[in-house]
Amino acid sequence: MKEEVAKPENHGYSSSEGEYEFRLAVSEWYKRRFNVDLDPDREVVALIGSKEGLCNIARAFLNEGDRVLLPDPAYPVYANGCTILNGGAPVYFPLREDNDFLPNLEDMDAGGVKMMFVNYPNNPTGAVTSIEKLRELVESAVENKIILCYDNAYSEIVFGDYRAPSVLQIDEASEIAVEFHSCSKTFSMAGSRIGFAVGNEKLIAGLKKVKAQVDSGPPKYIQLAAAKALKMYEEENPPKFVKEACQTYYRRVEILVKE
Ligand SMILES: Cc1ncc(COP(=O)(O)O)c(C=O)c1O
Repeated sequence: MKEEVAKPENHGYSSSEGEYEFRLAVSEWYKRRFNVDLDPDREVVALIGSKEGLCNIARAFLNEGDRVLLPDPAYPVYANGCTILNGGAPVYFPLREDNDFLPNLEDMDAGGVKMMFVNYPNNPTGAVTSIEKLRELVESAVENKIILCYDNAYSEIVFGDYRAPSVLQIDEASEIAVEFHSCSKTFSMAGSRIGFAVGNEKLIAGLKKVKAQVDSGPPKYIQLAAAKALKMYEEENPPKFVKEACQTYYRRVEILVKE
């Protein structure tokens, strides 16, 4: 980032969809990390942190009174910034300990729902999910014509041998899903405000259309630094500094749980 920030050409506007080099790095990362193919022009957009994208996708597609399925408990932005601020009506489904804090489709009142937010690895419960569980969710979203906003902000912040899946590893997800990632978590770049959304072309186009009227892309030097970090993955494996961050978090988990 220091090298890139020193270059005058990196201080002009970036387009609101982000630099091609960043979007290309995202699509190459998806291939290595999840074996998912993405078109950097049509299926990837840079975000000024994933929070911005989560709110703007709702702004793009919600009409007044539209019902939005939300987990309870959840990252509060899904209810406030995404749903209520855009005129939507929250419909909660519980995440229960006796169901490993995973959604239970029977608890979901999917009638007339336009959009839903789901997040694993989960904030605040710490629960993780599997491809099989995600498949059930995707099938239900396809059947009920629900836009699935899958918040994968913590995909790289995991412990032991567990690897978090992408919802886009399920073929049908490309019909109804957008997935969000946050470089705040993966690369500890919280203050730099950089993330990305990928997935269904029409949903990404809607998000880009809103963004084109409300913001411009993150600073170019930040996109280039994040692109470099994404390129540091070897096959599906994170670079050493990401693994070390996870080890530090795990030491803190152990202390917290013990106390
Ligand atoms: C579940 C979840 N999603 C998204 C975000 C937003 O992260 P950012 O906007 O920094 O990418 C956070 C931040 O705490 C979060 O916990």
